[in-house]
Amino acid sequence: MVTPINELAKHVGETVTLQGWLYARTDKGKLVFMQVRDGTGIAQCVVFKRDVDEQTFDSALHLSQESSLVVEGEVRSDQRAPGIPGGYELSVKALQIVQRAEEYPIGPKEHGVDFLMDNRHLWIRSSRQWAVLRVRTTVMRAIRGWLDEHGYVEVSTPILTPSAAEGTTNLFEVNYFDDKAYLAQTGQLYNEANIFAFGKVYCFGPTFRAEKSKTRRHLTEFWMVEPEVAFCDLDQLLEIEELFVSYIVQKAVQENANELKYLGRDLNKLTVISPPYPRITYDDAVAKIKEIQAHTTDPEQKSLLDITWGMDFGAPHETALTQLYEKPVFVTGFPSAVKAFYMEPYPGRAEVCKSADLLAPEGYGEIIGGSERISDPDLLLTRINEQHLPESAYKWYIDLRKYGSVPHSGFGLGVERTVAWICGIEHIREASPYPRLLNRLYP
Ligand code: 4AD
Ligand code: MG
Repeated sequence: MVTPINELAKHVGETVTLQGWLYARTDKGKLVFMQVRDGTGIAQCVVFKRDVDEQTFDSALHLSQESSLVVEGEVRSDQRAPGIPGGYELSVKALQIVQRAEEYPIGPKEHGVDFLMDNRHLWIRSSRQWAVLRVRTTVMRAIRGWLDEHGYVEVSTPILTPSAAEGTTNLFEVNYFDDKAYLAQTGQLYNEANIFAFGKVYCFGPTFRAEKSKTRRHLTEFWMVEPEVAFCDLDQLLEIEELFVSYIVQKAVQENANELKYLGRDLNKLTVISPPYPRITYDDAVAKIKEIQAHTTDPEQKSLLDITWGMDFGAPHETALTQLYEKPVFVTGFPSAVKAFYMEPYPGRAEVCKSADLLAPEGYGEIIGGSERISDPDLLLTRINEQHLPESAYKWYIDLRKYGSVPHSGFGLGVERTVAWICGIEHIREASPYPRLLNRLYP
């Protein structure tokens, strides 16, 4: 039987078998220290010349990085033993080499980002990348877990779509036989049809945006979960969002404490994430940003914070604003002109809409975009025409407002941005197993 490294604690004093890959190796006289990884963690396996035959010792001494192996040994508890989670090591009794790896291109020395990205298929084995992607899988499971538990029905939405939903500037166009199609920027419009059949729904999958700028926050393919709820207004939506996001963060803290510690994440910054989150209006946010700008001395930073009412926020604005809070903050009531066509205007104040962006702390930016949707068919048609969208492609969407229209709301949470925040990593590319970026489609 094979024991996973993350279960070694249960087997102290027993002889176990591990199977995995050699992550690193050092030797000192009659000892070889092998760091072995198996997908669940990294454990130190100590080969003592006295305990094994000469050939085994020699193999261990010369084994190349990333060679695949099966190792048998006794589990010992030792606080100093390195690894993830660490604290346990194996006194090796037998070693079987499955394949001797060729010289591995990724070593302990510093590599440039382009080199690592070209070798993403190998880079994902590195501890840091492994840790981030383990957190990602927890986040994805927590997303489904919470929604399934709370009565949301997962209904898949198409990837090949006839029309834009989030603006026409970043659409990926593909040939669809004799016609054109676009890769989905969102599943929302279909979610809105689905709520009339199921009440509370979500879609969860990859979404595509031809982002032509290089930033730390934008991918061209990213995963988004989009819940949508019938008979739900904006205030009710925000309560759902804060429960949902807090659950995801706490799941990661519980299940990936080792990975997060390895990444150097300050867990105290995450354990405080619980409802309620602060809510401010766009109007107040603009005033706050202006106030921060007034107190900024660095001229470059000061000019980055320039803002007038009506502008969308850029990364510097979001970063400045979120530094005022230790929890994520909702910014509600953006100008309708900078938001998508489907957002419900505020009664008596049509220039702002019932939108809410959720901004993560520590400058991680917008992790959720959401809103109450327009429920009046005439207003919706006006908006579609104002934005010069082809009316015929949205006929079905307008239909939804004719047959039992109700107030309804929904949101989209970006998986990679959420993972980047939870892990405390600089760049969103590490939160995707195979990131797609401007100029990056390989491997
Ligand atoms: O704010 P967005 O554009 O909202 C929508 O697409 C809505 N239809 C969602 C809905 O209401 N059902 O995108 C939602 C989230 C953002 O907050 C961000 O987390 C993520 O998707 N996102 C991106 N993540 C990585 N790279 C990009 N280029 C992203 N664009 C959006
Ligand atoms: Mg948005």
